[in-house]
Amino acid sequence: MKIVVLNGSPHLNGATSDMVNAFVRGAEEAGHEVASVNVAHKNIHGCMGCEYCREKEQGVCCQKDDMQALYPEILSADMVVFASPIYYFTLSAQLQAAIHRTYAIDIPRNVKKVALIMSSGSPFVYGPAIAQYYQSIVEYWGVENAGIFTANGKQNRSEEKREELYRFGRSL
Ligand SMILES: Cc1cc2nc3c(=O)[nH]c(=O)nc-3n(C[C@H](O)[C@H](O)[C@H](O)COP(=O)(O)O)c2cc1C
Repeated sequence: MKIVVLNGSPHLNGATSDMVNAFVRGAEEAGHEVASVNVAHKNIHGCMGCEYCREKEQGVCCQKDDMQALYPEILSADMVVFASPIYYFTLSAQLQAAIHRTYAIDIPRNVKKVALIMSSGSPFVYGPAIAQYYQSIVEYWGVENAGIFTANGKQNRSEEKREELYRFGRSL
């Protein structure tokens, strides 16, 4: 299976990336091909809502930034994993920008399952992000939710969380 991870944390060695790395290790050990992309370190602008992708050139975004390289990755993926720190009770703006830009390709028909990984300072802050994930991704794309993983406070960068994410990747 081809798995694409979209990591929206600006911290390459932060808590979100720590969970992502453990997941990738497990998934690769299970024999999957994994492309892990830190979208926070890419040049990805917000959707301009120009409708070029729907009215001018079907499926083509007119913004020629780093999202162009991500479109074929997402379109060829069997699974997409969304990873983000919680910022103001929701996903980071960097991950949001990448999600909004999928408007150009609409529903990536090859994707069969998705997962969500989130890191936060406090517990019980995931509601808005999970609601968006279910409504905008799981239900809209019509895919299976393979799992939602969270770490807050002392759980961040803990061996326990690394193990949980590794096992998840290994189980796929
Ligand atoms: C702009 C900003 C907003 C944040 N908002 C929240 C929040 O609403 N709830 C929360 O529990 N933590 C919040 N945090 C804390 C981060 O979610 C937390 O530190 C997380 O572990 C960072 O992950 P990272 O190391 O991958 O960047 C916020 C941090 C920043 C920088």
